[in-house]
Amino acid sequence: MLSAWSDRFRDFRNRKVADPAFRRWASRFALTRPVARRQARALFDLTAGFVYSQILYACVRVDLFQKLAAGPLSVAAVAHATGLPPFGAERLLKAAAALDLVESRSGERYALGPLGAALVGNDGVTAMIAHHRILYEDLRDPLSLLAGTAKAGLQNYWAYAGGECDTPAEPRRHGDYTALMAASQAFVTAEILDAYSLERHGRLLDVGGGDASFLIAASRVAPELDLMLFDLPPVAAIAGQRLNAAGLAGRARAYGGSFLVDPLPSGADLVTLNRVLHDHDDDAALAILRAIRRAIAPGGTLLVVEPMAGTPGAEASGDAYFGFYLLAMGQGRPRTAAEISAMLVRAGFETIGTVATNTPMIARIVSAKCGAA
Ligand SMILES: C[S@@+](CC[C@H](N)C(=O)[O-])C[C@H]1O[C@@H](n2cnc3c(N)ncnc32)[C@H](O)[C@@H]1O
Repeated sequence: MLSAWSDRFRDFRNRKVADPAFRRWASRFALTRPVARRQARALFDLTAGFVYSQILYACVRVDLFQKLAAGPLSVAAVAHATGLPPFGAERLLKAAAALDLVESRSGERYALGPLGAALVGNDGVTAMIAHHRILYEDLRDPLSLLAGTAKAGLQNYWAYAGGECDTPAEPRRHGDYTALMAASQAFVTAEILDAYSLERHGRLLDVGGGDASFLIAASRVAPELDLMLFDLPPVAAIAGQRLNAAGLAGRARAYGGSFLVDPLPSGADLVTLNRVLHDHDDDAALAILRAIRRAIAPGGTLLVVEPMAGTPGAEASGDAYFGFYLLAMGQGRPRTAAEISAMLVRAGFETIGTVATNTPMIARIVSAKCGAA
């Protein structure tokens, strides 16, 4: 009943907003003017979004935020430091100031703005922005992506995407995406470690664990924990080296294989799946969860950690950003916590719940327990 009323109200609103005469009236009438301005601004920001992204990308390419970290600089000094001509440096600084990335200061100088300051020393976000060059290329023709006819650059970048495999003659590159994931892993690790106590467990398996950044951080907060990692062989090799270099050879081991076909190492009473499930189509995602169910110790816990669709306050990052990012990557989709929970039940897990995180836009956690033996 309530939803019928709400639908009727929305239909009425849409008819009004779609009427140019009403829009003109609303922008002049004092009570509706603020709403009309807000909507016009939101629509303008959507229209201009790609331009804003390119301004941010240009700042990252010339390392502007790092260069301003020591203090304000004049346009001439920024031009000298970045190699841009003075008119280009000035245009970029003005644009970045309009986006709160930098701020103008006395003496015609520019300093970091609140958003630019947040990027200083922030290798994870900086690396994400830099690799968006490939995504922007792929998004040039969104309709062919949606039609499934585009062969996108991100599919190449993520060497496991699109069902393509390494061959001895043509090994695919796993180092670039592994380095990108390592650079951004610190945020995810902080979310997990703040939300969930690892110390109650004896053995942790990180599935699709990349270069072992998460395991190395986990080893510090839970010194008694045995550590296992499973990833594709070239990535597991990188992880193994890093675990050894971190002095963890005695309590950590990296296993190489494909979780779509190979059995996972067994015996862990805690399994983590960080930013892995959304990379895979439904059949593959279910296969991964079933492989974990077979390998996990009786009574063990699985944590599925990733940004999820339908996250309150972060809806755009789920279905819009990740929806299109994964489309360009050629596989996977953002899922809601409820969809992941339903898949966990199908895979044979029993007690499903969620663990609250500080920044759900970066990562949410769905937990699942399997029955004791
Ligand atoms: C998006 S990355 C996430 C890495 C890491 N968990 C993190 O959050 O930084 C996905 C990981 O899954 C691994 N992966 C993809 N397909 C795989 C497969 N079939 N078997 C094992 N690992 C796979 C990739 O190599 C990569 O390390």
